[in-house]
Amino acid sequence: MLKIEDLTLHYGGSQILHGISMEAAAGEVTCVMGTNGVGKTSLLKAIAGSHPRTGGAVELDGEALGRLPAHVLAQKGVGYVPQGRMIFPLLTVQENLETAYACLPAAEHMVPDEIFELFPILREFLGRRGGDLSGGQQQQLAIARAMLTKPKLLLLDEPTEGIQPNIIQQIGRVIEYLRDQGNMAIVLVEQYFEFAYGLADRFVVMKRGEVSMAGRRSELAKETLKQAVSV
Ligand SMILES: Nc1ncnc2c1ncn2[C@@H]1O[C@H](COP(=O)(O)OP(=O)(O)OP(=O)(O)O)[C@@H](O)[C@H]1O
Ligand SMILES: [Mg+2]
Repeated sequence: MLKIEDLTLHYGGSQILHGISMEAAAGEVTCVMGTNGVGKTSLLKAIAGSHPRTGGAVELDGEALGRLPAHVLAQKGVGYVPQGRMIFPLLTVQENLETAYACLPAAEHMVPDEIFELFPILREFLGRRGGDLSGGQQQQLAIARAMLTKPKLLLLDEPTEGIQPNIIQQIGRVIEYLRDQGNMAIVLVEQYFEFAYGLADRFVVMKRGEVSMAGRRSELAKETLKQAVSV
């Protein structure tokens, strides 16, 4: 579903990503790991178009993507759950969800029941302001908002960061549910090792803006992987 070749990215004059190549298949969770500041968020920003890449090729579902703006990529099927959630604090839960409609034809402007079955708290809090939700509730809202855009590729940036264990478990179940539907590729950036290890089909380990190790779960020993992501 996603194929990246030799992707580079700069902020002004400083180069952050130095030729990243990776793939993510539909029906799989591809987990991007690495310590703070290695460039995980920058990689997702480049894929989602919220910061332009400098070079390299990105292919989505067989289509070569130019350096397109984020709203166009969202319409093409890139769903993005950013680090820190980026909920609109003054909009209600309902209104936050409706921002996803910008990616959909008018006939599809509705929130399917599936969303509330996965995240019952959102139905309860539809009229509440996004900024008044807890961190875990905001994370659920951010995932729901991305799901509403009907993505082919779902990018999740550290969804467990600062979240209590029962909500982490719930988020894990939602990721499994989406993976098992089989038509969506999921790229999960995660530093919580056991959570990532429990979900991932493939791993991409980053170090200083490069891929230091990659492979399928069955090809990598857990201890080797753990070692690689902690340095
Ligand atoms: N807007 C920006 N302008 C300049 N430098 C930036 C910008 N955003 C990130 N950086 C730098 O790019 C590098 C990679 O940052 P990035 O946020 O991609 O890392 P990360 O792996 O997601 O880290 P974390 O695990 O802490 O979220 C860091 O050195 C960071 O300081
Ligand atoms: Mg980050």
